[in-house]
Amino acid sequence: MSEYVEALKTTDLKDGEMRKVALRGRDLLVAKVAGRFFAVDDRCPHMGTGLSRGRLNGTVVTCASHGSQFDLADGRVVRWTDWAGWKARLAKAVRFPRPLVTHPVKVEEGKVLIEL
Ligand code: FES
Repeated sequence: MSEYVEALKTTDLKDGEMRKVALRGRDLLVAKVAGRFFAVDDRCPHMGTGLSRGRLNGTVVTCASHGSQFDLADGRVVRWTDWAGWKARLAKAVRFPRPLVTHPVKVEEGKVLIEL
């Protein structure tokens, strides 16, 4: 059964910022972009690095480990590693590109609530 759980105050993040939030034993990445909040599992689908350690550009987060990029808005893979040639082909064959796990977010009374 899913429910919305308070993760942050709306004022805890500036626009363009993201941070790791531990919620009910689950690590999430929460970001604020153009006034909207996004929440995804803080785990890169490639090899598990915490995406909150990466960089945020608009709604696209870049993993700090191997440069994979994902759109926080829908979880889609923008780029699967920053490798090229045979290494990129091997990366896709061994670990098929997978999207992020996204979570619905709503804002109520200055609180950011995330569905778990
Ligand atoms: S662990 Fe994120 S790109 Fe490899």
